[in-house]
Amino acid sequence: MSYKVLDGKALSTTIKQEIKEQVDEIKAKNLRAPHLSAILVGNNPASEAYMGNKVKSCNIVGYTSDLIRRDETITQEELISLVHELNDNNSVDGFIVQLPLPDHIDADAVLLAIDPEKDVDGFHPYNFGCMAQGLECFLPATPHGILIMMERYGIETSGKNVVIIGRSNIVGTPLSILLSRKSKMGNATVTLAHSRTKNLSALTLQADILISALGKPFFVTADMVKEGAVVIDVGINRIDDLTRRSGSRLVGDIDFEKVAPKSSFITPVPGGVGPMTVVTLMLNTLKAYRKKMKLKD
Ligand code: GUN
Repeated sequence: MSYKVLDGKALSTTIKQEIKEQVDEIKAKNLRAPHLSAILVGNNPASEAYMGNKVKSCNIVGYTSDLIRRDETITQEELISLVHELNDNNSVDGFIVQLPLPDHIDADAVLLAIDPEKDVDGFHPYNFGCMAQGLECFLPATPHGILIMMERYGIETSGKNVVIIGRSNIVGTPLSILLSRKSKMGNATVTLAHSRTKNLSALTLQADILISALGKPFFVTADMVKEGAVVIDVGINRIDDLTRRSGSRLVGDIDFEKVAPKSSFITPVPGGVGPMTVVTLMLNTLKAYRKKMKLKD
């Protein structure tokens, strides 16, 4: 079967251009630019890479941004008081605390301290609850990015069987809620599979849309995929590759080479879901800014 690659990189460039046009209009009215702040604790290499992309994207769309670095020895109290400072800072429209945090810090307590109106990652339980009830909120970046990608490629979700592998708070669980809701990119019949799921292949073989978000390289093999399925890979795994100068490369959870010929649409890694996540962060920041400045969408 001939398949189409869901090119998140190209789509993210297009959407960032659309955001930039809106920001240019705002600036033409002599209003200040939207501002995104980010807190990075320690120097986890994956977090450094995500952060670099976020700052670069802010520059492209015309936002101002700042990266607040703290040593990994920071205490939970110090980090929470930094969160409070950003909550109170009137020139910050939205901010994120990059995850993961060091083990001695309770990430849930930190996320709970973020003002939900500035929670552009959509991780605060208030935003999560609003999302689950279909109320106005900041949607979590990765699930939202996947929905936008499917929408822009004309992929229908209504009435489809969706299987999601992985039940994390930031991807699998919110995605299962969004796709099953009565809404434009919802109305699907969703199965949320996880480490205790029995006979996973029997489920994945029923999937019109298969989404993998568990973080294990080459976990989804061709024999698990229905002919013509839409296959979305949220995994970002670094594996050894001595043919590369760096000695490693990034792969998803899906065995792309073998699965692609069975699929109708498939995301690559890198260049699939990852760039879309950053775009939705930009969209949420613009939404926070408009709300704060009392501007219409
Ligand atoms: N770590 C991995 N992905 C994300 C994300 O989207 N936001 C934050 N804050 N941390 C992450």
